[in-house]
Amino acid sequence: MGNINWSELSFGYMKTDYNVRCYYRDGKWGELEVSSSEILNIHMAATCLHYGQEAFEGLKAFRGKDGKVRVFRMDENGKRLQASSQGVVMAEFPVDRFEEAVRKVIKLNERFVPPYGSGASLYIRPLLIGLGAQVGVAPAPEYMFLVFVTPVGPYFKSGFKPAPVCIMRSYDRAAPQGTGTIKVGGNYAASLAAGRKAQGKGYVAVLYLDPKEKKYLDECGPANFFGIKNNTYVTPASNSILPSITNKSLQQLAEDMGLKVERRPIPVEELATLEEAAECGTAAVITPISKIDDLDENKSYIFSENGKPGATCVKLYNKLQSIQNGDESDPYGWVKIIE
Ligand code: PLP
Ligand code: COI
Repeated sequence: MGNINWSELSFGYMKTDYNVRCYYRDGKWGELEVSSSEILNIHMAATCLHYGQEAFEGLKAFRGKDGKVRVFRMDENGKRLQASSQGVVMAEFPVDRFEEAVRKVIKLNERFVPPYGSGASLYIRPLLIGLGAQVGVAPAPEYMFLVFVTPVGPYFKSGFKPAPVCIMRSYDRAAPQGTGTIKVGGNYAASLAAGRKAQGKGYVAVLYLDPKEKKYLDECGPANFFGIKNNTYVTPASNSILPSITNKSLQQLAEDMGLKVERRPIPVEELATLEEAAECGTAAVITPISKIDDLDENKSYIFSENGKPGATCVKLYNKLQSIQNGDESDPYGWVKIIE
């Protein structure tokens, strides 16, 4: 434990001390249980294994200069897990119990919250799965909510340095009226083949287009997209993307910094008019985009040639991080201190 090199952490799994679990049986949720096992013992016919009845979340906790641990917008993650549960017909875990479980798992693993200034944070991964033997396609009779934590560094190796992204029209991560707006495992399974292909060509991610018409920007495999132009923050409106809590927060920060905010369909060609472009999300934070190669149309949109992020991305990144780690006061009520 004494030998974790916090500033060298990547976005990966590290064993911590405890996880917190809760079971839904006979129509009701039980008590929160603490486990030190990393293993689940589940029925081989569980619906999470066969029919993708599962949803997850991702949020972070940060250590401040004052030594306090702050968690960012966990109520929003609790609500989104409920939306995901409705989407794949699972029992909904109450938001207040979600917050209680998150607080508990952070407290129990407090020694894994990276120190202030290390650039690392504690990633919190809640999971909800369908359990019980079920062979026909139908919702499970039982569910398990689980939350574990792991200390992490940047999701993309580049960190806060511009990285290249590509467009490939032959892949979708979600259907037009499908599961794109909820956080279910199937969306990520659907993104693996395109992701591997893109990485093989040197890109960090795929920027998906809307799956119906392939005319508008959607989002990247693990993060939302935004662009900056004419003092305006533009981000896609679409019914096949995840409503990102980071993006929602950045829209608020941008507005309060005096930028205009536009959430609307963004035609692919509009990329040519953007001054800055970036991915955003809990794991990605803000990952600036150096260029977007449209591999089908043989076009390149360049946003950074000097390896530096744009000025607005830098301002937004600094503001978000100072609120998250408590360097600045939080007028929005986004952070909660873990006592
Ligand atoms: N889009 C996708 C597909 C994601 O997996 C994530 C990560 O959770 C995001 C966007 C960003 O969402 P958030 O900012 O809530 O983490
Ligand atoms: C997150 O940003 O928390 C995510 O879940 C993205 C990815 C790791 C799946």
